[in-house]
Amino acid sequence: MLTFDFFALAQFHKQITDSLFDVVMIDPPWKLSSPDPTRGVTIAYETMSDAQISGLNISCLQDNGYLFIWTINSKFKDCFKLMTIWGYEFCDEICWAKESLKGKLIKGNGFYLQHAKESCLIGKKGNPRKSEKGKEIGDCIFSKRRGQSQKPDEIYEMIETLVPDGYYLEIFGRRNNLRNSWITIGNEL
Ligand SMILES: C[S@@+](CC[C@H](N)C(=O)[O-])C[C@H]1O[C@@H](n2cnc3c(N)ncnc32)[C@H](O)[C@@H]1O
Repeated sequence: MLTFDFFALAQFHKQITDSLFDVVMIDPPWKLSSPDPTRGVTIAYETMSDAQISGLNISCLQDNGYLFIWTINSKFKDCFKLMTIWGYEFCDEICWAKESLKGKLIKGNGFYLQHAKESCLIGKKGNPRKSEKGKEIGDCIFSKRRGQSQKPDEIYEMIETLVPDGYYLEIFGRRNNLRNSWITIGNEL
């Protein structure tokens, strides 16, 4: 992604659809700063520094649209900075509470508290369209945890309800994220 030409993607997309993206979802490979944040559990993929992430040319992908960015607690402030750098205004948040096979909350790692949830912050740029059905979508997902860092499928249903028949782009996606009507980019595809 460090060398990916986002501008070329945006321009090509505009050329063939006459539109930029309605929704961009990004799940960055955050580099964790504390010595053993995952208590010995190895992160099984490459990570990127905050500077590398903020250097991605996300600004060119949308003129009216939403950015969904998955974050961890220690990167909340960085996400707000990224939104400003990339031209978005924070507008909402989705919380994913992770459920065990037995239907209980799974407590993971944390410095002060043990985290049982992940957050997806939503930014908006310009004047994005929004379906009336959006009013029926809650801001919480309660669903089973699967592979490491794997996000829940419910997020796609929420996005596609909020912005039906949109142009959707996912950055840092993996094979499990591939979905009809979405363009997915990532180094594990
Ligand atoms: C947090 S994971 C994404 C998880 C995904 N959203 C899911 O639901 O399974 C971050 C991804 O970014 C990828 N990644 C790390 N460094 C990268 C780079 N320089 N270029 C492209 N992808 C990279 C990792 O390999 C990993 O697949």
